Amino acid sequence: MLEHIFVIGGTGNIGTKAVKDLLSNGIKVTLYARNPTKALCLFPDYDALLTIVQGDYSDLMPFYDAIKKGRYTRLLLLVQIDSGNMNAPLLKKQLATAAYEAGVSQVVDISSYAAGDRWRYNFAAEDHWASEKTLMEIPNRSSLVCLRPGRLASNIVDFDIHAIKHLNMYPGSAEPDETMGWISPNDVGTVAGRMLMDDVAKHGDAVYEMIGEVLTPRKTAAVISTVVGREIPYVHMDPIARYTMLTDKAGLPHRIAYALTDLNENGIQVTRALPILLGRKPETLEEYLMAYKDQLM
Ligand SMILES: NC(=O)c1ccc[n+]([C@@H]2O[C@H](COP(=O)([O-])OP(=O)(O)OC[C@H]3O[C@@H](n4cnc5c(N)ncnc54)[C@H](OP(=O)(O)O)[C@@H]3O)[C@@H](O)[C@H]2O)c1
Repeated sequence: MLEHIFVIGGTGNIGTKAVKDLLSNGIKVTLYARNPTKALCLFPDYDALLTIVQGDYSDLMPFYDAIKKGRYTRLLLLVQIDSGNMNAPLLKKQLATAAYEAGVSQVVDISSYAAGDRWRYNFAAEDHWASEKTLMEIPNRSSLVCLRPGRLASNIVDFDIHAIKHLNMYPGSAEPDETMGWISPNDVGTVAGRMLMDDVAKHGDAVYEMIGEVLTPRKTAAVISTVVGREIPYVHMDPIARYTMLTDKAGLPHRIAYALTDLNENGIQVTRALPILLGRKPETLEEYLMAYKDQLM
């Protein structure tokens, strides 16, 4: 049977890379996207392989219709867990259950390193752990691969750009020399794509942690300085000041701002075997950020 892969979350940092890799390997992809124009612009020149189903988390009818009617072989499941007040584990369960019932042989789930770290210690640990558990417990399901990325390099572009550009600093509440575990979303997308093209039986119900590079906040600021071509020091903030910056200035809800202020990954290790999954070395933070140099300057 020819591969035809259904993708949820294919227009973001991780999903875009996975979808590009699938399409460039001649694999048919159907994207569940709330903004079809954005989706089509991201993947030009693939009209023959790409189908868009317009839809949102808030109404899954377009998804249910599409997954029942198509003859999809696998599902890439990326749900933005901090999107509004939705119940992410329940949403993931509904999506994956419908896909398994429609006959997919594999679901590749984008989880988080936090899912296997301290139990329920923050929103990401809680939601991703509960999501993995609920997916594992779907009756009569086929393969489930969970990818557990560490801190995405795209966070710097998505969340720190104002501080870097306008305040000339990289702020945080971590001690300047404690460790942080980074991974490029391109690497997560690459591995997701490879899983979806690989033999299903090879990976079965595998769980793969993904830490590509370990840096301290001070070293991270040095990398950002190299990329933008001027000194961007790490500014260590006390927890209340950092939390206030994240809520009042960045507009983050309490649950996320609290978790980001409290996050402590000291002692985190690089995933030694990651090059086996990637087929190459992991992308460094500097390599990733170079592509966003103009936005960060
Ligand atoms: N940030 C981290 O450090 C980190 C670490 C570990 C794991 N993770 C996990 O990685 C995932 C985020 O990956 P990412 O950076 O690729 O995310 P992203 O760039 O924010 O992309 C999110 C994707 O979900 C879609 N989406 C968002 N809300 C939607 C809705 N209401 N209905 C339908 N689609 C919706 C987006 O569509 P649009 O294009 O329309 O926005 C996009 O395709 C999350 O599950 C997160 O928990 C993140």
